[in-house]
Amino acid sequence: MTVHFIGAGPGAADLMTLRGRSLIERCPVCLYAGSILPPEILSWCPPGARLVDTAGLDLDAIAAEFARAHALGQDVARLHSGDLSIWSAVAEQMRRLDAFGIPYTLTPGVPAFAAAAAALGRELTLPGVAQSLVLTRTGGRASPMPDREKLATFAATGATLAIHLSIHVVDKVAEELAPHYGPDCPAAVVWRASWPDERILRGTLASIAGEVAREKLERTALILVGPALAREDFRDSALYTKTYARRFRPQEGESET
Ligand SMILES: C[S@@+](CC[C@H](N)C(=O)[O-])C[C@H]1O[C@@H](n2cnc3c(N)ncnc32)[C@H](O)[C@@H]1O
Repeated sequence: MTVHFIGAGPGAADLMTLRGRSLIERCPVCLYAGSILPPEILSWCPPGARLVDTAGLDLDAIAAEFARAHALGQDVARLHSGDLSIWSAVAEQMRRLDAFGIPYTLTPGVPAFAAAAAALGRELTLPGVAQSLVLTRTGGRASPMPDREKLATFAATGATLAIHLSIHVVDKVAEELAPHYGPDCPAAVVWRASWPDERILRGTLASIAGEVAREKLERTALILVGPALAREDFRDSALYTKTYARRFRPQEGESET
């Protein structure tokens, strides 16, 4: 018996990986958070599967589901939104499974920031403009931010920021970032990226909070900030220039090594 943690992607069912889907199709138990999962994904579970919405469960109750399935020798598909490696609470579940001696696997998923970048039609790293992407959030009641991880500290680098779990404080986020990026810095909000009702707001640090308030967007949204979101005057990357020799495209007179 194995628990398979699966990144279910940002919303659109067809952004699930093939591996994730085939695991779901063969697990007789599926644990999922109903609020962030498209119903189509649950239709892939085998007939008669035990489907448990974990939205109302605490960690002990989820661990009890793992223990129950273990006792019955039933594999479990445990779904989380986006990818498992960020803000998925997978670590504490794996710690419980280690304590029980129950084996598990992890299958990555498409993270929300990637779906948001696709919705915006943007690359988040541009040559000479921004070469780093910071995935971060603001502190919440359950998860205060470590002292060294201040938005302003990340902003000082000028990198592109993908700010999660923070749409309710977008005004404070913009205020904190403006002194570093300037009020005219491009900012965008993607709400429910890849869902049928996806919404995109484009603006600047000076305007974005007002736009969010006007549209009354809350909960599942990403705030993206940085000059890469709007720059058209970046140079081409060296990778595809004619004069740049690469292993699979040697320059004339050079042999591939
Ligand atoms: C608990 S975190 C989960 C992140 C997830 N593990 C990932 O890989 O993207 C939830 C936050 O991710 C962002 N998020 C998740 N799905 C999203 C979507 N479809 N569109 C926009 N933001 C999303 C929002 O900022 C939301 O508050």
